[in-house]
Amino acid sequence: MEEVNSGVPAHVGIIMDGNGRWAQMRGKKRSFGHSAGSKNVDRIVTHAFNSGIKTLTLYAFSSENWARPKEEVDALMHLLKIYFNKFIKKVLKNKVRLSVMGDIDMLSPDLKELIIADMEKSKGFTEHTLNIAINYGARQEIVYAVNKLIKNGEEVTVDSISKELYTAPFGEPDLIIRTGGEYRLSNFMLYQGAYSELYFTDVLWPDFDETELDKAIESFKNRKRRFGKVI
Ligand code: FPP
Repeated sequence: MEEVNSGVPAHVGIIMDGNGRWAQMRGKKRSFGHSAGSKNVDRIVTHAFNSGIKTLTLYAFSSENWARPKEEVDALMHLLKIYFNKFIKKVLKNKVRLSVMGDIDMLSPDLKELIIADMEKSKGFTEHTLNIAINYGARQEIVYAVNKLIKNGEEVTVDSISKELYTAPFGEPDLIIRTGGEYRLSNFMLYQGAYSELYFTDVLWPDFDETELDKAIESFKNRKRRFGKVI
């Protein structure tokens, strides 16, 4: 097998961590950090697609985030509503397909409707995909996929599980970035991330700008991907 790489990663996943600390460092509430983080989503989505990334998966709300204080959960849900009401329109105008991965049945009916409408409107776009993980947990995703196969009487294999994951239409992430200085995956794309390159930075999400994304892409370009083989 040839040494695989070294272009721009086609699919990038980002664990957007550090909003709370960013706000606390400024003497503000954590929700202020999420608001700044939400604005940063706009900037990074634009730059990612301009840089040649085809699919961008953003971890916006995990299955475990419901356990945060109600005020913070409400603030995050409010920001998501604003995002799908307003900011996403610009993204869709640029012919980006919106995909949301996670159990959206647990979201408020109006947020769920907004998401479904935007996914429907953009389903014909194939060049770029913005995939947002909301009420998402990788373990839950794997359990769901396996149960579905069993229920359908299908054989459980590495490939059949892959085909039942949310990411089946656009494939596995080449690069997973985590901002905010922690070195873990926090239940994000555990199955499809088996051979992803990982990039960790101390930069807090609201400060993760175009230059920081360029650094992550550069780092990826210098990796030698072997997919478990000797080359
Ligand atoms: C982690 O920071 C971040 C989150 C749990 C939420 C991420 C959400 C956004 C960036 C805004 C909404 C998203 C979209 C797509 C509009 P943290 O609160 O755990 O930070 P900390 O580690 O400093 O406490």
